[in-house]
Amino acid sequence: MHELSLHILDLLQNAAEAGANRVDLTVTADTRQHLLTICVEDNGKGISEEILEKVSDPFTTTRTSRKVGLGLALLKAAAESCGGSLKISSRVNVGTKVTASFRLDHIDLPPLGDIAGTVMVFMTGRCGMIFSYRHCRDDREYVFSSLGYERLWEHPEFLIKFKETIEAGLKSLA
Ligand SMILES: Nc1ncnc2c1ncn2[C@@H]1O[C@H](COP(=O)(O)OP(=O)(O)OP(=O)(O)O)[C@@H](O)[C@H]1O
Ligand SMILES: [Mg+2]
Repeated sequence: MHELSLHILDLLQNAAEAGANRVDLTVTADTRQHLLTICVEDNGKGISEEILEKVSDPFTTTRTSRKVGLGLALLKAAAESCGGSLKISSRVNVGTKVTASFRLDHIDLPPLGDIAGTVMVFMTGRCGMIFSYRHCRDDREYVFSSLGYERLWEHPEFLIKFKETIEAGLKSLA
């Protein structure tokens, strides 16, 4: 995948697929440690120990529509090819936390891409979902939370407003 936002979309979709109604996305760029971290935490059904052991293997999926699950395998490959790693922790009926790290100064690091647009695509129609997005750049941070607005996600005009709000927030960090 050419943009990290596409990996983020897969992580968000995995969380929704797991029945989560609370999803927290954190992107951290630490220029001193030369580290970029993407973390998605959810309160979905979790992953059993048996699946967890092999979850980033391309043939591991609980989808019934096909036999391959590529999202985590591709993210692991992308992170490792940029000197980073993929970590997954999960508890059944509690939730899952996926953290991918990348060397910020690695020549193969893909661009972040359109995170605000990705959030909008993901949230479309997800009425009731509580979503937060924290983006940290060294000592500065931007936080977006849908808490209190979760019934508005089904209205296109609010989706566009949220997208613009996130874009403006990210611009203030640049
Ligand atoms: N947040 C999560 N909560 C619960 N289970 C998860 C979560 N993320 C991944 N899984 C489990 O790991 C499997 C593999 O995930 P992965 O993203 O690699 O593939 P997929 O979602 O099945 O298919 P694809 O990403 O190719 O559309 C999923 O089928 C699911 O069983
Ligand atoms: Mg997936």
